[in-house]
Amino acid sequence: MLADVVELLICPVCGGDLGLDERAVRCPSGHAFDVARQGYVSLLTGSRAPGTADSAEMVAARDAFLGVGHFDPLAEAVAEACRTGAEGSRRTGAKVVADAGAGTGHYLARALDRLPDAVGIALDVSKHAVRRAARAHPRLGAVVADVWRPMPVRSDSVDVLLNVFAPRNGPEFARVLGDDGTLVVVTPTSQHLEPLVERLGLLSVDEEKERRVAESLGGHFAETGRSVHEFGMTLGREAVEAVVGMGPSAWHTDSHAMRARITALPETSEVTASFRMSIFQRHHRSSPVLDR
Ligand SMILES: C[S@@+](CC[C@H](N)C(=O)[O-])C[C@H]1O[C@@H](n2cnc3c(N)ncnc32)[C@H](O)[C@@H]1O
Ligand SMILES: [Zn+2]
Repeated sequence: MLADVVELLICPVCGGDLGLDERAVRCPSGHAFDVARQGYVSLLTGSRAPGTADSAEMVAARDAFLGVGHFDPLAEAVAEACRTGAEGSRRTGAKVVADAGAGTGHYLARALDRLPDAVGIALDVSKHAVRRAARAHPRLGAVVADVWRPMPVRSDSVDVLLNVFAPRNGPEFARVLGDDGTLVVVTPTSQHLEPLVERLGLLSVDEEKERRVAESLGGHFAETGRSVHEFGMTLGREAVEAVVGMGPSAWHTDSHAMRARITALPETSEVTASFRMSIFQRHHRSSPVLDR
């Protein structure tokens, strides 16, 4: 619930502490943010529409696909990495796991299952996603926020930061993580969703992705571990439609044409799921950081 994490959040306008009353999250300077009926809060400021937010349809497809367990082996590996990371953190008090671009909160909830005393912050720019994340786990607080902007999270407050198929912000990730904090980044490999990528003409993962991930984090983090998680899935057409609908191709493809291609598939398809999980450790700070 939001109450579990509100003291870890900061006002997106002035950087002040936040407190929660029945209907709103407020800072001492009077900035107030309504708590939605579903229990999440939006700490987005400004009028710029965040163009990369997942739509309601994409989030529904993601929820349906993840909910039946197709990516469970990945969720288990991510949860285990979070547990190991939290155990390695020297911060005292309840452990904090945050997820930047959390979507429906699926991976964060699994991590919290393995960490009985930890709390979780799900951050995502899509209110459709955050609405679901708010229900994903009792010890999770869900916040609408843009990870490309200053994150509304207190400096040095997070033990493990999760980032699964979502945008990254190296300087901000480094700021919110405490000393010995762990960043867990999951990206698809070029084998992900083969042979559907080829058969359906989905957007493929570019080979440069790995290098770009390392570059975006390099100045602030050292990569301390990397593993590839690959497994087969037998997907009916409905599951294929969901996995297409939740991914980047949903942005770019004419949905009628895609549906026709999916209908032409055999009743079930053998599909590869293939992910790279990288573990990063935050560099120790050499100079005091600005506390916000
Ligand atoms: C491919 S989905 C992954 C969601 C989740 N991590 C998962 O694997 O189920 C990417 C997510 O990033 C979110 N997102 C995109 N741009 C964002 C931004 N600038 N700040 C925060 N979240 C963003 C989208 O709304 C979407 O939920
Ligand atoms: Zn404020």
